[in-house]
Amino acid sequence: MENSEKVRIAVIGGTGFEKVLFKEFEQLRLGTPYGVAPPISIGRIGREKVVFLPRHGPEHSLPPHTINYKANIYTLYQLGVERILATNAVGAINLNFKPGDLVVPHDFIDFTKLRSTTFYDEEPVTHVDFSQPYCPEIRKLLVENAEKLGLKVWDRAVLVCTEGPRYETPAEIEMFRRLGCDVVGMTGVPEAVLARELEICYAPICYVSNMAAGIQERLTALEVSKVSKQVIPKIKQLLIKTVETLPHKRNCPCAHALEHARFR
Ligand code: HPA
Repeated sequence: MENSEKVRIAVIGGTGFEKVLFKEFEQLRLGTPYGVAPPISIGRIGREKVVFLPRHGPEHSLPPHTINYKANIYTLYQLGVERILATNAVGAINLNFKPGDLVVPHDFIDFTKLRSTTFYDEEPVTHVDFSQPYCPEIRKLLVENAEKLGLKVWDRAVLVCTEGPRYETPAEIEMFRRLGCDVVGMTGVPEAVLARELEICYAPICYVSNMAAGIQERLTALEVSKVSKQVIPKIKQLLIKTVETLPHKRNCPCAHALEHARFR
C-alpha cells in the first residue's frame, strides 16, 4: 500500500459492526490533541483506500456517552478523510418502521446532555450551517444503492440522539414522537457536527434494531445484537457499493462549511 496516498473515505462502524470491513488491512492508532481513538484499520474497497473506525472499540467496550467523538473525527481528519459513512443501531418511533429496516435520516434533533459538541470553543467564533444536516451526495447514493440491492430503506427520517446509556422511557419516546422524530439512537451527535466543523462530508446509514420504549414491551441489548447479525452483512454490501459509486470529486456544500461560518 502506498503510504503517501490519501485516505479519502472513512467508515465508522456502530453497534454490531466492530469487525473490519476489508480482508487485508493495516491497523494503527494515532494520537490527536483530543486524545486517542480506538485502533483504526486501513484497507481497500476496489481501488479506493478506506479507513474503518469501530466507534465503540473493536470489542464494543465503550458506551455511547464515553466515546471520544472529537478524537475519532480528528483522527480521520489527520488522515485527510473527506467523507464519512457512519452506521448506527436505532429504535423506531415511527410505527411504519420495523426491525431490520434501513434508514437514511435527513435531519436530527440533539437531546444529548454531557458531550462536547464542537472543536470551536475559542476564537475564531464559528457557527456552522446545519440547514442540510447530512451530506446530500452521500445520502442520495446510499438510498439509490440500497434500492438497487433490493434492501428495504427509508429515505427520510428525523433522528433524535439521546445521552444514554439507558434506553428511553415511554414518556420520552411519546415526546419525541410529538416532536416529529422517527428514530432514536445514542451516537449520531456530536459525530455529524464535528465532521461538518472540519468540512468533512458525513451521512449515517441506520438500521432499526427494535421498536422504541413503550411501543414494544421491553428493550434488551441482546435483541439489538440479534438484529445486527442479520442486518450488518447487508449494510456492508451497501457500503461497498456506495464507496465504489461515489464520484472522486465532491459535489456538495460540505467541503465549504466554514466559508460563511465566521464573523471575521
Ligand atoms: N434507543 C436508543 N438507542 C438505541 C435504541 C433505542 O431504542 N435501539 C438501538 N439504539
